[in-house]
Amino acid sequence: MTNPRVSRAVENIELSAIKEMSMRSARVEGAASLAWGLPSFRTPQHIRRAVAERLEADLEIGKYALPDGLPALREAAAKTHLAKTGVEVDPDRSVMITAGNTQGMNALLHVLLDPGDEVILTDPGFASHMQQVRLCGGETVFWGMDESKGWSLDVEALPDLVSDKTKALILVSPSNPTGTIFSEAELRRIGQIAVDHDFLILVDDPYSHFLYENRPRYFNLASVPALRDHLVYLFTFSKAYAMSGWRLAYMILPEGLKQAVLKVHDATIICTPRISQVAGLAALTEEPVHLEAFETILGQRRSLICERLDAVPELFSYIKPEGAYYVFPKLLMAHSDSRDFSIRLLEDARVTVTPGRAFGPAGEHHVRMAYCVAEDVINSAFDRIEAHFRR
Ligand SMILES: Cc1ncc(COP(=O)(O)O)c(C=O)c1O
Repeated sequence: MTNPRVSRAVENIELSAIKEMSMRSARVEGAASLAWGLPSFRTPQHIRRAVAERLEADLEIGKYALPDGLPALREAAAKTHLAKTGVEVDPDRSVMITAGNTQGMNALLHVLLDPGDEVILTDPGFASHMQQVRLCGGETVFWGMDESKGWSLDVEALPDLVSDKTKALILVSPSNPTGTIFSEAELRRIGQIAVDHDFLILVDDPYSHFLYENRPRYFNLASVPALRDHLVYLFTFSKAYAMSGWRLAYMILPEGLKQAVLKVHDATIICTPRISQVAGLAALTEEPVHLEAFETILGQRRSLICERLDAVPELFSYIKPEGAYYVFPKLLMAHSDSRDFSIRLLEDARVTVTPGRAFGPAGEHHVRMAYCVAEDVINSAFDRIEAHFRR
C-alpha cells in the first residue's frame, strides 16, 4: 500500500532483504541466522585500546571533524592505497573518509546520477546497490553472471549494456553474494571498456582480505594508473577490521569529483564520527595482526558450510565460493520463490537465510548464506534444515 506522504523515490525502493530477514529473525527465539554478513569477530584489541586512550586524552574527541575526514587518517589511507596498489594519491585532493561504503556509495551516486541515468550492476550483485541507484533516480542495468561457468562474467557482452545514459558500473570482487574473484584479464578489459565509453567504475571493496587459497588470483583494478580518472575505490573497515558498527570507510576518487562528493557528504552527515576515525587511524597505522587469524577462521567455516551443503545434494547445488564469506546455493527442493522459501524456512525450521531475488533477477531460486558466523550456528542451521526436509 502506498503512503501519500512518502516520495515516489522512496516508495520505489525496498528495505534490503538482508535486513528484512535479520529483523524477522530477531523475533524468532533461538533462530540460527546465516542472513547478515556480520562477522562474529570483535574489533581487534589494538584498535579498541587506541580508542580507549584517545577517549580520555583527546580534548577534541567529541567534536565534529572537517567533512573530508581527519588529515592523519586521509594520509594513512593514501599510504595504505599506495602500498596496496602502487598508485600514489593526494590525501587532500583524492581521499574522503566516509561513514562506511554504504554512505560513501550513496554520496557518489547522488553526485553522478540525474533521473534516468543508468548504472550497470552484476547480476547477482549486492542488494543495497540496486536500492541506492533507484533512490537517486537512476536505472539499474543488470549484467548477468553465468552460474554454469562458476558465476563468471561475459566481459565482451558489457559494451552492449552501455548506452549514452551509462554513468557507472559497480564491481565487488570477491563478489557478494557469489564469492567470485574476477580475474586480472577480465578486470583490465572492463577498465578498457570504461575508458572507451567514458563511464566510472566504482570498486566497492569489503572483502579483498578474505581470499583463502585464491590470493594469487586477486587483482585490484585500482592499481591500473590509466584508470585514475575512471575509477573510484571504496574500502570499508567493516569486515576486514570487524568494525561494522563503527561505520568507517575511505574513498579514493578522481580529483575533479571530490568537491561534489564533499557537498553531498556535508549535506547528509557533515562528517564521519571522529571517534571512528581515531579507530581507523589505529587500524591503518598499526600492524594488522588479526587478519591472518580472521582469514584462517573464515576458511574453516567455508570448509564446514561446503561439507554441510555437500551432505544435502538433493536440497541445494552450489559453486564453491572463492573469496568473501558467502555461498549462494540454488534451491533444488519444491518451492515457489526464494522469498517465500526463506520466510517459511525461518518460521518452520528457525533458520534464517537471505532470498536470492534480492541480489538481482539471476538470484531467484537461490539463497545467500553468510558463513562469517560461529561454527555452531552453521551446524545448527544445517541440522535443522536436514531435520526439516527429511521429515
Ligand atoms: C558489497 C558490499 N558493500 C558494502 C557493504 C556495507 O559496507 P559498510 O558497512 O562499509 O557500509 C557490504 C556489507 O555487506 C557489502 O557486502
